Amino acid sequence: MELLAKTLLLCSALALVTGAPAHPHESAADEGHAHAAVPDRCKGIEFDAITPNEDGDTLFFSGNHLWKGFHGPVQLSNESFRELDDLHHTGHVDAAFRMHNTEKTGDHDHIYLFVDNKVFRYYNENLEEGYPKEIQEDFPGVPSDLDAAVECPKGECVTDSVLFMKGTDVHLYDVATKKTKTKTWPDLPVCTSALRWLEHYYCFHGHNFTRFNPVSGEVTGDYPKDARNYFMKCADFGHGGHYRTPKCSEIKLDAITTDDRGKKYLFSGPIYMRINTQRDGLHAFPITRTWKEVTNGVDAVFSFTDNIYMIKDDKVYIYKSAAHYTLIEGYPKTLSKELGIEGHVDAAFVCPGENTVHIIQGNRMRDVDLTATPRVVTRDLPLPLSNIDAGLCGPDGINVFKGSQYYHYESPMTLAVSRIAPFPHNVTSAMMGCQD
Ligand SMILES: *[C@@H]1O[C@H](CO)[C@@H](O)[C@H](O)[C@H]1NC(C)=O
Ligand SMILES: *[C@@H]1O[C@H](CO)[C@@H](O)[C@H](O)[C@H]1NC(C)=O
Ligand SMILES: *[C@@H]1O[C@H](CO)[C@@H](O)[C@H](O)[C@H]1NC(C)=O
Repeated sequence: MELLAKTLLLCSALALVTGAPAHPHESAADEGHAHAAVPDRCKGIEFDAITPNEDGDTLFFSGNHLWKGFHGPVQLSNESFRELDDLHHTGHVDAAFRMHNTEKTGDHDHIYLFVDNKVFRYYNENLEEGYPKEIQEDFPGVPSDLDAAVECPKGECVTDSVLFMKGTDVHLYDVATKKTKTKTWPDLPVCTSALRWLEHYYCFHGHNFTRFNPVSGEVTGDYPKDARNYFMKCADFGHGGHYRTPKCSEIKLDAITTDDRGKKYLFSGPIYMRINTQRDGLHAFPITRTWKEVTNGVDAVFSFTDNIYMIKDDKVYIYKSAAHYTLIEGYPKTLSKELGIEGHVDAAFVCPGENTVHIIQGNRMRDVDLTATPRVVTRDLPLPLSNIDAGLCGPDGINVFKGSQYYHYESPMTLAVSRIAPFPHNVTSAMMGCQD
């Protein structure tokens, strides 16, 4: 009698937690088969594992569920990773990461999922031969029952590495030598999952996250933060901008540039987007997130040496590009003072290895030598096009953007001397992260 009462109580408690109806015939032994309610990540849940996949979509695992990307529906993890619960029926993933391995060993960009003492390796959601394995067969010295794992490529860590986390221990695993070093980082909370995203490292705990340095474990800045404001799209959450992915046919750029570190940015209204980050997906942010002082959008942006020049109305802002962009003292300055020109700037670009900025104003292209003091217009040419929004010069020539189309030219000179505009191309989702 007492036992039955206890069982009923447990079922009701379970019903409360899971939202499933309580059935008196379910005993405690059936608990493992109770259907967990479909989780809602906007309610503030904890993730068991987070990793990008080979397409740059971020996978979030919680219990036996999975989300692909920062927005989108939830699914059962075994729909994508079929074999996951074959062995254990545990219905969870402890940790996951995407391998970064520049040696030609064939595992670059493959996804590793950890369950208890086993590791599963997937590529394009296909389990690879020989898996699952004992974790230590692939990763000697790394413990079972992990909490979190994250890749750390050479350049960010000393060598291509993986950080495995368990409790307060961080096992730094060298991919090439298979050697492990164990550290404890006092700044870091116990991470239930970890993610490398756009060259930054995030430890997730509860519904919060903390950004950390993958070499020293230091945490600088105001953490923890609520993951719902940054890593998922939830009503009433967000970090401003309310960016909606535009259709490619509706795209209108203000500016586009590649800085000397190879980071390529597009600017449109109040937002910017990194566009050569396919490995991490394409993501839009408010311009002020990175360039605090540029509060009202941009007219044109170009990069020269390790500086990025942002033009808005008659002001020029020059930022030094390092890990973060910092406004150079004394800026903004006026266009006439900095570049020796006046009036509205539509677009501006510098070709690789050149010292000249090509400034497009209406249907004129004005060249300014960036090494001369004072700056003066060295050449002023008419163009076959007007109403240009943005221009980018790279090793393959120049793309000039106008609305949702662009024109390709071999060089600034062919742009200026062409009598007629070449055939326009449509911008594509691969270029701009827009919707086809
Ligand atoms: C996937 O998981 C669900 C819930 O755990 C289970 O009911 C279903 O049979 C599983 N499907 C496969 C293909 O294993
Ligand atoms: C999440 O962060 C908030 C604000 O800093 C804090 O009050 C809360 O305790 C944190 N929760 C977890 C689980 O870390
Ligand atoms: C460009 O897009 C327009 C409509 O958005 C379409 O009619 C046209 O065929 C496309 N051009 C090319 C070259 O794909």
